[in-house]
Amino acid sequence: MKPLVIVTRKLPDQVEERMKTLFNIKLNEDDHAFSKEELIDAVSQASVLVPTVTDKIDRDVINAAGPDLKMIANFGVGVNHIDLVTARNRMITVTNTPGVLTDDTADMAMGLMLSIMRRMSEGERILRAGNWDGWAPTQLRGARLSGKKLGIIGMGRIGQAFAMRAKAFGMEIHYHNRNPIEEVIANNLDATFWDGLDHMIMKMDVVSLNCPYTEETHQLMSEHRLGLMQKHAYLINTARGEVIDEEALITMLTNGDIAGAGLDVYVDEPKVNKGFMTLENVVMAPHLGSATMEARQAMGEKVIINVKTFLDGHSPRDRVIS
Ligand code: DGY
Repeated sequence: MKPLVIVTRKLPDQVEERMKTLFNIKLNEDDHAFSKEELIDAVSQASVLVPTVTDKIDRDVINAAGPDLKMIANFGVGVNHIDLVTARNRMITVTNTPGVLTDDTADMAMGLMLSIMRRMSEGERILRAGNWDGWAPTQLRGARLSGKKLGIIGMGRIGQAFAMRAKAFGMEIHYHNRNPIEEVIANNLDATFWDGLDHMIMKMDVVSLNCPYTEETHQLMSEHRLGLMQKHAYLINTARGEVIDEEALITMLTNGDIAGAGLDVYVDEPKVNKGFMTLENVVMAPHLGSATMEARQAMGEKVIINVKTFLDGHSPRDRVIS
């Protein structure tokens, strides 16, 4: 009997078809999000679990794993929903899918930035409500991107891909990262490294979050740091909701203490803080960063390669822990 691989969500058809030929697989035909009980049931039977960001693989779930569970092959790059410490203690290998959703997530950051700065969603709401009276010189004036200072927090693959796009729009690139990026890349982007995050935030026209969510980045954009932003500045988040103090952000947007925000991620997904709903100066997407045909197919292929490599007795390339 081949080891059992359980997939928690519906994956693209081609990925599922390939998995059927390779593995003893249990798929999620109706694509419902697994409850905690279902996750516990899955880890008690499976040799490999393939979860997504919608599954909270916490200590209770991992501790309920049966003796066969040897691998968690995440469909997605962020692994903050998996308790890595407990997984390591249980000697469970965890993999993810880096590198194949970089451009798509950077595109999403670009789209949110354009949309909020040029008031596109606000305009569409007026239009759809039948309230557009026609062109007017002072109507819906937003902010020009060109010449503005963009401060990227987290200059990994996605941060750099976003910087490249923003530079093409004439923006000045600034960034804060644990370490400065390679000189040749920084030179190509004309990017300025800021060791002091607070100092960078104070000077930027746009601040974008492109860092992973970890204990260190929990509410990195705290009430204090949000308060350092300039009144005309915008905040973009395609990382994780928990990187921002959402309540503080809502208060600032409500009071006009910053100009606006473009958000793809939220603290309590799929619930979205009601405070955002009535604000005109926020553009929201439902966690769409990697939602392209190309990225989701490539993420599936990465999962297949990681699982197959592992089950064949080799070390998968995208190990987060092993
Ligand atoms: C990721 O890959 O981390 C995306 O946010 C979707 O999970």
